[in-house]
Amino acid sequence: MDGRGHSHQSGFPTTRLRRLRYLPAMRRMVRQTRLAPAQLILPLFVRPGENVRREIASMPGHFQLSPDLLESEVRQAASLGLGGVLLFGIPDDKDPSGSDAMSDFGIIPQAVRAIKRAAPEVLVVTDVCFCEYTSHGHCGALCEIGDRVDVDNDATLQMLGHQAVAHARAGADVVAPSGMMDGMVGAIRRRLDGAGLSHVPILSYAAKYASAYYGPFRDAAESAPRFGDRRSYQMDPASDPGQALREVELDLAEGADLVMVKPALAYLDIIRLVHDRFPGVPLAAYNVSGEYSMMKAAAQRGWLDEKAVVLESLLAIRRAGAGIIITYWAKEVAQWLGE
Ligand code: PBG
Ligand code: ZN
Repeated sequence: MDGRGHSHQSGFPTTRLRRLRYLPAMRRMVRQTRLAPAQLILPLFVRPGENVRREIASMPGHFQLSPDLLESEVRQAASLGLGGVLLFGIPDDKDPSGSDAMSDFGIIPQAVRAIKRAAPEVLVVTDVCFCEYTSHGHCGALCEIGDRVDVDNDATLQMLGHQAVAHARAGADVVAPSGMMDGMVGAIRRRLDGAGLSHVPILSYAAKYASAYYGPFRDAAESAPRFGDRRSYQMDPASDPGQALREVELDLAEGADLVMVKPALAYLDIIRLVHDRFPGVPLAAYNVSGEYSMMKAAAQRGWLDEKAVVLESLLAIRRAGAGIIITYWAKEVAQWLGE
């Protein structure tokens, strides 16, 4: 007895755990965590124009693409059996209120329509936030709070509602608000329902931490804040993990259909906590840009075996409890799994 009721085995030499490891067939049989292409979502960056393919310097292998070039990318995602794609838009013109984000003719609605013509079966998720669209690079409208300039939570809720409706009207299958505004899920749910879009699910970036791992993404999306940082809305990495549970609980109460923890690798404890506390709620984890770039850079120098380290990392995210992984390696992983 080990004190927890496990009386079925004694110690060494009767017990030898290596017996479960000698044969490849045995290792395969007792394996528990599995990766599947259908659980992977590929992020894509889209910008206006035609035949535009600009490599992102800090994310080798990823590009800003115009809607026409997005089509072949998405067809490939479909043929690999990926779960879906997650779109980020980079408009040509940014302004203080991020107006492109709310237009039915903005970059994301254009991209969604192009994808739906090319590969209607692919699940299209759109990022709903303003940082890629505002000239100041913050995730919403600004206001003065005391002597500081900060994001105006409630004014931003209205804007997010418009943006989500524009995406869904164009054919987005899922909208994913990422700005960490209080009440964002409820505001978007009401707007969608009011627009006859009650069938469109919300994937909430529920527990999103203020992270240095977003650095390469901000190059990719040209969305770095022009002043200050995002710590008045994204979560403090040192905060009580219970705060992540409160974020998830509130988002579910407001109508979130799926929830996300972000980043993934430095927050496996949070993934585990959310998974255990909310069984039955589809949980996604975002394997973010910095996680991609650091492994990619090491692999390019021959310091790490890319395939091995990526598969091990994604396995860890799955093992922690995420059913869905958003990853810049989605295509490669699907290919590796098929080999
Ligand atoms: C925008 C957004 C960010 C990411 C996804 N949506 C960046 C940020 O909050 O600054 C990060 C994704 C990544 O690093 O791969 N709200
Ligand atoms: Zn944002």
